[in-house]
Amino acid sequence: MESGYDSVYGHWLSNPECFWAEAAEAVHWFKKWDRVLDASRPPFYRWFSGGSLNSCYNALDLHVETGRADQPALIYDSAVTNSTKVITYRVLLNEVARFAGVLLLHGVRKGDRVIIYMPMVPEAVIAMLACARIGAIHSVVFGGFAANELATRINDARPKVIVSASCCVEVNRVVPYKPLLDQAIELAIAKPAACIILQRPQEQASMTRGRDFDWAQEMAQAKPADCVPVAATDPLYILYTSGTTGLPKGVVRDNGGHLVALKWSMKNVYGVEPGEVFWAASDLGWAVGHSYIVYGPLFHGNTTVLYEGKPVGTPDPGAFWRVISEHDVKVLFTAPTAFRAIKREDPNGEYIRRYDLSRFRMLFLAGERCDPDTLLWAGRQLGVPVIDNWWQTETGWPVGANCAGLGLLPIKPGSCTKPVPGYDVRVLGEDGQEIPFGQIGNIAIKLPLPPGCLPTLWNNDAGYKESYMSTYPGYYQTADAGFKDEDGYLWIMSRTDDIINVAGHRLSTGALEEVLASHTDVAECAVVGAADELKGEIPLGLIVLKTGVGRPHEVITAELIRMVREKIGPVASFKVAAIVKRLPKTRSGKIVRGTIKKIADGLEYRIPPTIDDPAILNEITADLAALGYPRK
Ligand code: COA
Ligand code: AMP
Repeated sequence: MESGYDSVYGHWLSNPECFWAEAAEAVHWFKKWDRVLDASRPPFYRWFSGGSLNSCYNALDLHVETGRADQPALIYDSAVTNSTKVITYRVLLNEVARFAGVLLLHGVRKGDRVIIYMPMVPEAVIAMLACARIGAIHSVVFGGFAANELATRINDARPKVIVSASCCVEVNRVVPYKPLLDQAIELAIAKPAACIILQRPQEQASMTRGRDFDWAQEMAQAKPADCVPVAATDPLYILYTSGTTGLPKGVVRDNGGHLVALKWSMKNVYGVEPGEVFWAASDLGWAVGHSYIVYGPLFHGNTTVLYEGKPVGTPDPGAFWRVISEHDVKVLFTAPTAFRAIKREDPNGEYIRRYDLSRFRMLFLAGERCDPDTLLWAGRQLGVPVIDNWWQTETGWPVGANCAGLGLLPIKPGSCTKPVPGYDVRVLGEDGQEIPFGQIGNIAIKLPLPPGCLPTLWNNDAGYKESYMSTYPGYYQTADAGFKDEDGYLWIMSRTDDIINVAGHRLSTGALEEVLASHTDVAECAVVGAADELKGEIPLGLIVLKTGVGRPHEVITAELIRMVREKIGPVASFKVAAIVKRLPKTRSGKIVRGTIKKIADGLEYRIPPTIDDPAILNEITADLAALGYPRK
């Protein structure tokens, strides 16, 4: 089929407001917008101002009213507890309405924040949608973060209520969540009025009288609550993501633009029809989980899969194929790292052939750069198109993709294909001028950003301007580097800041360094993302000890590893710290992290002309060699 991409992109480019007004007709409004785009206060653009709607109504009530009541809305498949539960739209609506009633009973009202710190269980989705139903703003915190990270988010969001569970179930262990929650509340300055705790059979949490309430008991007593109309421009959620400092950024998502963009993307980017089963194998704590486990598929009347498990080890590398064949999944979306894990354990795809995947149509990969080997391997083994798509927590939906619903363009492994309609993507040099095809530069998006992208940072308009809008006036700075080729394909190669990507999880090296530097024996340190065959990158710490520290190095490094696990969380996968004599720096004192990374990865590097003492690079090479770097 000839792709309709060019004509749709052209239609958007010729009249963006008309394009988005047409897309907005596909969703339910209590009151339509006054202006499609309010551009009166750049760079704070607002979509569909004057409109009012409800995201939960669009995700559930609308489908129940229009014939999907008995269609599964959510299939919970837990490989770690060996259980499956199918929840129809009717049942999900009832549960959500009831939990919305619970929140109301605890005083949560429109605009109040609710933090959700939960494992991959249906109750987490129910809590998110219940917030949307009453106009409360949810903030889901990924379970792999430690108490300290949770406390930071509590302080920033100041939630009235926190919803959590007694535990999460990892591959070989049960991780109690309640002690982490208690510790986080202890650490936080802002205290929630109440916590609602789901007791899972694997672990009973102890409850604090007067503050903690049992999910099941609360649900049994609550009355269902109705949808509250909210302004299109009102926040739906805050999702914290790593910035370049230790403090995460609170990415805000509005209701109207988000709904319109996600609904549009389900058909046009991901090529799924209402009624089909769509599975994003990610976590609810990430942007992918918000957009494509919960909101996108439900807005579009799909059946979404909530998978609690891993691609390998639960119990084997056939886990994904079992889920696809058992639940008739048409489209799977996951991170390349999941496929690297599967490829490593099942290089010849033997597990794939044990399942009937004849109705499976397409695989989408995102969250990190997809290496061509992994993409080609997946395509060969599965016999379906494998589509790379590039986006960020900030954008909330793809910036660059091969839009399946518009007809696929030829796939170039290593490229995420072309800008999605809505995004005017440019490659800029340091001077802010566009640079020629084929040359690497800073990837920027011409303002305004389309609906669905962050309108600001939570309580931090100045930070929004400073982080994203100040380097290239008139553009959103993605902090990704890459190029466009002569066919207009986008190649996203790396970050331009201190963010590293570990198994599709975004981490700040600055935040890791802050933890390491707080150890009493550490004089200074640097963290870089070293290439890793499975996780893409893993953090590698270089540590300079204070003069006179005589304790054994292995004791100190073990303490540092434990500190990162306790302060940031296991998700950081921080396992290697190298004690070195000195760190290589420029004459102005800046640590040359890029060069350290190249040494760790065994790549050729140019000695930075401003380096203070080039001999240090040889010392670092030797120190890292002793730890087995480069790893390939
Ligand atoms: N609660 C508590 N701990 C958690 C957790 C959670 N929700 N999620 C992960 N962890 C822990 C893990 O148990 C692990 O701990 P360990 O160091 O003691 O083993 C650590 O955090 C790292 O977890 P993870 O990144 O999942 O790595 P892994 O080694 O367990 O598995 C993969 C590797 C590739 C299989 C895994 O990263 C994966 O499935 N990735 C899929 C991609 C994905 O979901 N990306 C999200 C963005 S799209
Ligand atoms: P997150 O905000 O956690 O989704 O991480 C976003 C970052 O992940 C981007 O800025 C990129 O650096 C990287 N990323 C995500 N998807 C891709 C992709 N398809 N290709 C290259 N990099 C990607």
